[in-house]
Amino acid sequence: MTMSYEVAVLVGSLRDGSYNRALIEAMIALAPEGMNFRFVEIGDLPFYNPDLEGEGVPAAWTRFRGEMADVDAVLFATPEYNRSVPAVVKNALDVGSRPYGESVWGGKPAAIVTASMGATGGFGANHHLRQSLVFLDMPTMQQPEAYVGKVQDILTDGGVVEGSREFLAGFMARFAAWVQTHKG
Ligand code: FNR
Repeated sequence: MTMSYEVAVLVGSLRDGSYNRALIEAMIALAPEGMNFRFVEIGDLPFYNPDLEGEGVPAAWTRFRGEMADVDAVLFATPEYNRSVPAVVKNALDVGSRPYGESVWGGKPAAIVTASMGATGGFGANHHLRQSLVFLDMPTMQQPEAYVGKVQDILTDGGVVEGSREFLAGFMARFAAWVQTHKG
């Protein structure tokens, strides 16, 4: 890859020991050169309230919108909470989508990784997130899909087990190609 791209990484778990954060860090280490990943924090964003636009915009919203405006693409890594996305993820989507006409999302290629300690790998969250990304006009990579079940069993110190590495590296290679296709 000759071009280089800035990619925001949004993690849907706020806890210190997050498997999703550990997994995406391991996946970033497997990504092709030319993809510059930066974690953009979403846990400090006040709940979206249109009344705060204008005079009372929270500083965290301004920080988040500014960071997101600068990136070429977005990589989501999130757990599933009660068969959907954690509220922090939805709130970040909402905050970034406004004020009307100033969305930070439109046209940015995206990919979604969901991981869970259970067997279903966050399938419900993955697809609920896709529903919002359709409306936000984000071309979202369809294949390969990454529903990472029993995530605790594939993580090692700073990496992933041999049997999963090829798939996860392939996911990142396809995402790099996806970003290049949409960003040129
Ligand atoms: C969960 N968990 C969970 N797992 C799952 O596969 N489907 C689900 O619907 C839910 N629901 C759910 C709700 C809430 C409120 C919590 C706190 C947890 C379990 C979850 O996948 C597990 O805790 C993961 O380890 C969370 O990801 P992180 O924090 O390790 O990245």
